[in-house]
Amino acid sequence: MAQPLTVTQPLTVAQPVAVTQPVTVGAALAAPAQLSEADLAAKGLDLFNDVNLSAGGKASCATCHFSTGHTNNKTYVGLDVVADGDPNGRNTPTLWGVAERSVFGWAGQAATLEDSIRGIIVNRMKGPEPSKETLAALIAYVRTLNYPANWQVKEDGTPRADASAAVKRGYDLYVNDGGCGTCHQLPTFDKKSKDDIGTGGKFKVPSLHAVSSTAPYFHDGRTGSLREAVKIMWEVYAKKLESRLPTEDELDDLTAYVGAL
Ligand code: HEC
Ligand code: HEC
Repeated sequence: MAQPLTVTQPLTVAQPVAVTQPVTVGAALAAPAQLSEADLAAKGLDLFNDVNLSAGGKASCATCHFSTGHTNNKTYVGLDVVADGDPNGRNTPTLWGVAERSVFGWAGQAATLEDSIRGIIVNRMKGPEPSKETLAALIAYVRTLNYPANWQVKEDGTPRADASAAVKRGYDLYVNDGGCGTCHQLPTFDKKSKDDIGTGGKFKVPSLHAVSSTAPYFHDGRTGSLREAVKIMWEVYAKKLESRLPTEDELDDLTAYVGAL
């Protein structure tokens, strides 16, 4: 299914064929759109692993997101790994579920997947300007990356009947006293707008799906502990609403629920 031609040719170079042949530009552009979504996604996977998208062949998308689209759990400035918590660093997000998101980048700086991926190729990877076809294929691929099936929590965020008791108690804290659901809203666990929660600026409310495997946490990866991240968040909420702080047992339960998402 994957055509070797597309692996080595990043499709970024304007194809002289279209210019010299007496074919209209419209027709030349229409051709890729005729690829089925599955063929486009297969081409996208090849490009996802293609180091030619970066200057000097230093990295492919899969260097940081693995070919499954999941995070490599590292924090970067450009293509350089930096210490977790570096204020300029940005922790690699998982691309699972990216089709459900409405803003991209930790600061929510990109409004579309196209803007997001183009920006990464040109600014982070210092690669050549990607063609529309390259972007379309990469988008088609990342849109196929879904969250894994979840046996503890249903699609609407409520615990399943056979979920652990801690997860069930944690859900109650999540939607009630912890106040988490006001920002990480069910059923997507995110929110369209950005918030300043005291981490150094306004950041988007990230989805909490699969968060147990995306450490370190927050935009700069300031903590590797999910329990610590949950604690920080409850403290932020309690301060804002002058509400109570959690007990140690409650933190365990809430972490169990969030870790099961
Ligand atoms: C050097 C590591 C690295 C490489 C290479 C890389 N990314 Fe990323 N990616 C990141 C980081 C870090 C972020 C968060 C950036 C930010 O917030 O500004 C990110 C964010 C994203 C996002 C936004 C996700 C969201 O929910 O906000 C998408 C989509 C994405 N990358 C796709 C890609 C694709 C496609 C490629 C290849 C063309 C790629 N990335 C290459 C590290 C990388
Ligand atoms: C006022 C809105 C708001 C509330 C309330 C809130 N959060 Fe957050 N949360 C955010 C924002 C914004 C970020 C991202 C901040 C950053 O990246 O610096 C975040 C990040 C997180 C992260 C890190 C995610 C990651 O991928 O790194 C976790 C975990 C988290 N929140 C859990 C919770 C829990 C649990 C609660 C309830 C106790 C909660 N949040 C309440 C806005 C909120």
